[in-house]
Amino acid sequence: MAKRINFFDTTLRDGEQSPGCSMNIKEKILLAKQLEKLGVDVIEAGFAASSEGDFESVQMIANEVKNSTVAVLARAVKGDIDKAWEAVKGATKPRIHTFIATSDIHMKYKLKMEPEDVIKKAEEMVRYASSLCPEVEFSAEDATRSNPDFLAKIFDKVIEAGAKIINIPDTVGYTTPDEYYNFIMDIRKKSKHLDSVQISVHCHNDLGLAVANTLAAIKAGATQCECTINGIGERAGNAALEELVMIMNVRGDIYGVETGINTKEIMKTSHLLTSITGVSVQPNKAIVGANAFAHEAGIHQHGVLSNRETYEIMTPESVGLTMNKMVLGKHSGRHAFKDKLQSMGYDLAPEELDKAFEEFKKLADVKKQVFDGDIEAILTDREVKAEDKYKLVRFVINSGNTITTTASVVLNKEGQDIEGIAVAGGPVDAAIRAIDKCLDIEVELADYSIQSVTEGTDALGYSIIKIRYKDHNYIGKGMSINIVEASIKAYLNAVNSIYA
Ligand code: KIV
Ligand code: ZN
Repeated sequence: MAKRINFFDTTLRDGEQSPGCSMNIKEKILLAKQLEKLGVDVIEAGFAASSEGDFESVQMIANEVKNSTVAVLARAVKGDIDKAWEAVKGATKPRIHTFIATSDIHMKYKLKMEPEDVIKKAEEMVRYASSLCPEVEFSAEDATRSNPDFLAKIFDKVIEAGAKIINIPDTVGYTTPDEYYNFIMDIRKKSKHLDSVQISVHCHNDLGLAVANTLAAIKAGATQCECTINGIGERAGNAALEELVMIMNVRGDIYGVETGINTKEIMKTSHLLTSITGVSVQPNKAIVGANAFAHEAGIHQHGVLSNRETYEIMTPESVGLTMNKMVLGKHSGRHAFKDKLQSMGYDLAPEELDKAFEEFKKLADVKKQVFDGDIEAILTDREVKAEDKYKLVRFVINSGNTITTTASVVLNKEGQDIEGIAVAGGPVDAAIRAIDKCLDIEVELADYSIQSVTEGTDALGYSIIKIRYKDHNYIGKGMSINIVEASIKAYLNAVNSIYA
């Protein structure tokens, strides 16, 4: 029978630690539900002791998620473990994930503890966590720079204390596949108990080896891999879930393992994360990049048209990518729209369907062909919208190559219309400056981007704007066939999220 690999997704914890990837509670819940749909075995929901916000989001995710285990991170400290348990105890399948550093450099300079005291602390805290929670995972932070004899000793102690999963992380992305394989095999030989529990692997990508190292660990006996969507995470990120799953699927002949991942949900999950964080993946990113299934060279296009397998080792459909299939137009009714959504894997409640249909109708009025990508964008955009304090009423732009651009923007602020007028070099800048004149607060624009959702000059423009207010970043998204309107919507969405 094929070996089952469990996927432990840490997008909401290690991923969220990466710069620019912070999420609010609503967004975290939305992503957690999508991860559950994707079929991950474990969702690491956060680090409860790190902030009130993290505590609350772990608690809410624990209450929402039913099929996946919900894990919560805790240092090997009693206070952290108490908070972790308090946050996760409502989950159908709760897990406390506790860690302590084991490398000489971390023990000496970070923990300022003697190795024997680190073992005692780990054992004591795993025993305590196990007295609260039915499933406890122990991680030896910076394991790959730790002494294997020491690791074998600490692992045996924490397993005797109740740990059911032992994680051997490459915290600083330092190891290489061969070295990691031999390292894990060596610890397995040295430890009395390691083979009686689940071995987990957690790799960072500092040398670009996170995925390769994870696969080497699986060959060495690991059955849980810790990873993130789009490979986001501390510094250079973590091993990318989508790459690991597709390697295991496409090269089943080599790995011979099975997973519980529904690969058709990969694209949707990746897009959702991008739309929440505003951090896009590079176009040539494996599996989820915009060019991952594009064939540019004529010789390749010809080959693919004759037989897809000439240049395609997996189908776009297998990762849930619908190749911009033209679906509906302005004459399509609610029924056809609902059918289409269902075929794309969306099952909306009646009131949500009404809202989405309304958005679709508005789009179909101005855009001849509505593609799957457009519909997905409508749904994602709708899902992450903040409550609106400022609403756009109308705007007028006067622009040209021989005049200064002028923008007039009218906003409705809690029932009252206010107008801002500004001049600037270009229409987007003028519109943003006009909005600034209507706001009660001063915000700083930190990042701006716009891209088209599908092809053609009538494509939907999708704008992502990051602003800073009182040392916090806020992200806004906006979509429209008019790129100035998309930018205005994104800016207002970011401003409104300050109040939300
Ligand atoms: O990279 C790491 O070592 C971690 C641990 C907390 C598992 O994220
Ligand atoms: Zn990590």
